[in-house]
Amino acid sequence: MISNDVKILAIESSCDETAAAVVVNGRDVKSNVISTQIPLHTLYGGVVPEIASRKHTERINQVVKEALAKADTSLDEIDAIAVTYGPGLVGALLVGVAEAKAIAFAKKKPLVGVHHIEGHISANYIENKDLKPPFLCLVVSGGHTHLVHVKDYGKYEILGRTRDDAAGEAFDKVARAIGLGYPGGPKIEQKAKEGNPEAIHFTRPKVDDGIYDFSFSGLKSAVLNYLNKAQMTGAEVSEADVAASFQKAVIDSLVDHAAMAIDEFGMDKFAIAGGVASNQTLRAAFEKMCESKDVEFYHPSPILCTDNAAMIGAAGYYEYIAGHRDSWDLNAVPNLKLGER
Ligand code: KG4
Ligand code: ZN
Repeated sequence: MISNDVKILAIESSCDETAAAVVVNGRDVKSNVISTQIPLHTLYGGVVPEIASRKHTERINQVVKEALAKADTSLDEIDAIAVTYGPGLVGALLVGVAEAKAIAFAKKKPLVGVHHIEGHISANYIENKDLKPPFLCLVVSGGHTHLVHVKDYGKYEILGRTRDDAAGEAFDKVARAIGLGYPGGPKIEQKAKEGNPEAIHFTRPKVDDGIYDFSFSGLKSAVLNYLNKAQMTGAEVSEADVAASFQKAVIDSLVDHAAMAIDEFGMDKFAIAGGVASNQTLRAAFEKMCESKDVEFYHPSPILCTDNAAMIGAAGYYEYIAGHRDSWDLNAVPNLKLGER
């Protein structure tokens, strides 16, 4: 059968998930296999890069095989191989890049390198068939907090970014401080449900010389100071109130920045992406803000918010149809900038 459909095998290994997916025309996910290493890294309170790359090496072949089997397809029917080549942990990225290059070389298929954040943004295309650029997207993950103007497929302008900790990183660090363990985001979200978000007023982080930039390390210090002071004075601490008040401070800062950009750029579509975007309280706050401004709000399902390869297949498709191809010298770029191709 002759078809114009573009079937992409996508691979993602930038941090602690080994993932592969088969995606048709950037939006139709045929399979999305994720092998997470979270339980392993939990033992150490965070991601251990050496262990991450060793585990990727052990899992990658099986994960790719499973993704092809679940999509009921073979490598011969694949049109291109897309792979995350940055940013991320270099040893982890290299495993996916080497796998993608090996398959592309052996099967004589085009190779397309994808930026991890472009992947997170593109996760929104999968369940929202109507979503097309231009729109505004807030990417909130463990490594990044970016407010991005998506001008077109593959064309991005970063309006603001974090000056220090990423939003997810702040969740992880505060969770550790109140003894909730890793990964902190989901644990804080859970704990916050029993607490009062108005109980403690943590100062909202502010950056004076970049209106769209974020800062979360001051907020994290404020939480640590609060805990230390309570310990010294013997005051009782409600972990639930700390979690809820901290979470509210993060969300307020994110929503305020996004609302300002929506107004200034006159956007009528707003999307969120990245691991932190699976937070239900955060989603509700953005939904409310967008509704008040008559702006269409988009967000991926939680499984497409955290690291996965379906989002790399979505982004890879738009790179592929734009004619972007990589050669056998494609390398992992741990600090790759968005839109730097
Ligand atoms: O996008 P992601 O899976 O990996 C990176 O590219 O970093 O994001 C992981 C981050 C972690 O910091 C994790 O604590 C956070 O996302 N996270 C959450 C939630 N689920 C994951 N943060 C807040 N609330 C959640 N429900
Ligand atoms: Zn990510």
